[in-house]
Amino acid sequence: SASDGETHGADETTAPETTEEKAVYKVGIDAPYPPFSILDENGNPTGFDSESIEWIAKDQGFEVEFKQVSFDGMIPALQTGKIDMIYSGMTITPEREEKINFSAPYWTVNQTVIVKEGSTGTVDDLKAGKLTVGTQRGTTAEIWIDQNLVETGIMPEENLRLYDNPPLAVADLINGRIDAVMYDSTVVEDMIKGKPVSKLGFIETDEYFGIAVRKDDTELLEKLNTGLDNLMASEDWTGLIEKYKMK
Ligand code: ARG
Repeated sequence: SASDGETHGADETTAPETTEEKAVYKVGIDAPYPPFSILDENGNPTGFDSESIEWIAKDQGFEVEFKQVSFDGMIPALQTGKIDMIYSGMTITPEREEKINFSAPYWTVNQTVIVKEGSTGTVDDLKAGKLTVGTQRGTTAEIWIDQNLVETGIMPEENLRLYDNPPLAVADLINGRIDAVMYDSTVVEDMIKGKPVSKLGFIETDEYFGIAVRKDDTELLEKLNTGLDNLMASEDWTGLIEKYKMK
């Protein structure tokens, strides 16, 4: 009706345009996961991924708030809206892509196997199911061991030890509680600095990291991809790689 039209028009002209509120997105991280997600002495998130999203947020005109979430609870937290994105070294996999969407890839890793210094264990021993091996719960390392060694009957299930975070697995390796640790190569390089452990080699899994969002959040995904593109084309990208000595 005519009066509806008038009311609508009045609303439009009186809408305040003075304050520009930026969207605030909650970023799920699982630290410690060096050098991607780290908490500093004051408990503030830092690291390659956290600094990257700060850069992208500035570039794309939004704000971020970090939330610590256990890695195996990350996808449910995203789906239920506890967080709006996952930016913590998550590998893009077809299984995960059924539930969530990923940005373009920004980093790549394989799986590195480490043992305690002086140990005689080998990657072949691991592949033969002869070693107790530790890794983080809910990760691609767990999935690889499960699918290739446990489900095939090569390795007894009790030889796979799952930890809440990767430094706990390395600590148990050094204490002699487990024979090997398998984890994302870039993170292993960072975690073993100055520790009495030896690198045995890689298991080639060719993993690509992406930022994850809810399936229906196409607008946010577009901002993330554009911001990521801009970041990767800038000198700040190589600066971050150097700062965190990424390998
Ligand atoms: N890239 C591996 C995965 O996606 C491990 C990631 C662990 N991330 C973390 N923040 N703890 O499963």
